[in-house]
Amino acid sequence: MSGAAPATQARRETWSSSTGFILAAVGSAVGLGNIWRFPGVAYESGGGAFLVPYLVALLTAGIPILFLDYAIGHRYRGAAPLAYRRMARPAEALGWFQIVLSFVIAVYYAAVIAWSLSYFVFAFDLRWGDDPAGFFTGEYLRVGAPEVSTTIVPAVAIPLVLVWVVVMAIIALGVTRGVQRVNVLFIPLLVLAFVALVARAVTLPGAADGLNALFTPDWGALADPAVWIAAYSQIFFSLSIAFGIMVTYASYQRRKANMTSAGLVVAFANSSFEILAGIGVFATLGFLAHQQATGIDQLEGLSGPILSFVTFPAVISEMPGGALFGAVFFGALVLAGFTSIISILLGVAASVQEKFGLAQRTSAIVVGLVCAVISLALFSTTSGLIALDTVDQWANNVGIVVSAIVMTVLVVWVFRTAPVLRAHLNRVSTFQVGRYWYALIGVLAPVLLGYMLYERVRTLLTEGYEGYPGWYLTVFGWGAIALVVGGALVLTLLPWRRGEDEDFRPWPELEEERR
Ligand code: PHE
Repeated sequence: MSGAAPATQARRETWSSSTGFILAAVGSAVGLGNIWRFPGVAYESGGGAFLVPYLVALLTAGIPILFLDYAIGHRYRGAAPLAYRRMARPAEALGWFQIVLSFVIAVYYAAVIAWSLSYFVFAFDLRWGDDPAGFFTGEYLRVGAPEVSTTIVPAVAIPLVLVWVVVMAIIALGVTRGVQRVNVLFIPLLVLAFVALVARAVTLPGAADGLNALFTPDWGALADPAVWIAAYSQIFFSLSIAFGIMVTYASYQRRKANMTSAGLVVAFANSSFEILAGIGVFATLGFLAHQQATGIDQLEGLSGPILSFVTFPAVISEMPGGALFGAVFFGALVLAGFTSIISILLGVAASVQEKFGLAQRTSAIVVGLVCAVISLALFSTTSGLIALDTVDQWANNVGIVVSAIVMTVLVVWVFRTAPVLRAHLNRVSTFQVGRYWYALIGVLAPVLLGYMLYERVRTLLTEGYEGYPGWYLTVFGWGAIALVVGGALVLTLLPWRRGEDEDFRPWPELEEERR
């Protein structure tokens, strides 16, 4: 053996209970994806009928891959690169691919939290006035053309710096004292805030029309592959799976811990939250349509950033007691976003810490600073919104799908570790995973995802995106993917600072491992 065992192995920090782990995992899953992404995606993709592909995606890919993430992290006890490497050496590269992809997401996700923080403040005096659309892209973001702008917008940069300082501090405090504490506090708060919002929303005049618009099924949508793609992407992003993040979270769970049952709790909590958010948002939109005496289908801006930052402010202005409703809504976005971004930063910081043998605090600060600088340079400028939209599109429709395909194929077909992982889950958990799991992760998921990826890449190549110029998409879209691949290769090739950890022994010992 060369060098000492990695510090990670000696005494790995753990969540202090299963509840701590579950709250943290729910915190990672429930985020901006649930509040601004889901309602719009569901509405555009067949309304009530979307629940069919959504549930199919949850059961056939979401939960099975969540279990896969948990099994790898829990058995091999490391952030993604170390855990994959211990499973099978060359798989380390996949770990870095996932971690660099998470890093890309973190740098723009923080910007959305910063906007939410600003809007939390703006809500008190309805600062957007009577033109929320003009306010958002004009006065607030000062959006320019798709270009590489270096003009910093202070109104975004200031809250963005604040976000990074707080995130960095939480990660520096560690898993139990930092991350777990924040989640134990924020998740119950978030649930309270959200229940209050939804209760208020469904009692507004016109709410029922909003719910009808969301839930009235358009069965024809089920024949459209794009709807299925939307459902699978939503599930991946929303559950934070195949990003290396759940691998990392599971690696801090005690060795004797019921993993699959926790996974089921997390998955159903996340989906319940998502559907609740859909109800709250559409009830509110029903009210807006009612006020303007039009139909919901006549309203504009029902998805993405526009839904939260333009359409919602418009509703808030019309509502009696709107300032309070607005503050609670944007406060909830901030809470949900924070508990997700700390999971991403922990994943990145822990990976760097383990590879380069750094102290946990040093790694948190170095990684946090790098993220903060890039985040400010790209997303607090006048081209921030467009850059964000483009990077998000490529990271979530290309990057994560590649990650999930490579992961399932490597585990099942190349390194053939699926039986070991299933045996591991079944030894530590009460909910037993049957053999059907192999078929789901080994055949169904890669085939479906492969088809989705092909369709998506073809559309992006032939039709471009949002009419942005080709060079722009090459730099920010494909460039983001190239950065992830290149970054993964470089990080894999760099030497492990503390040498090899040949004395690592997975626990429990399994028959399957010796075959
Ligand atoms: N799941 C989070 C959300 O729904 C986003 C996220 C993605 C978090 C990837 C961690 C890793 O907003």
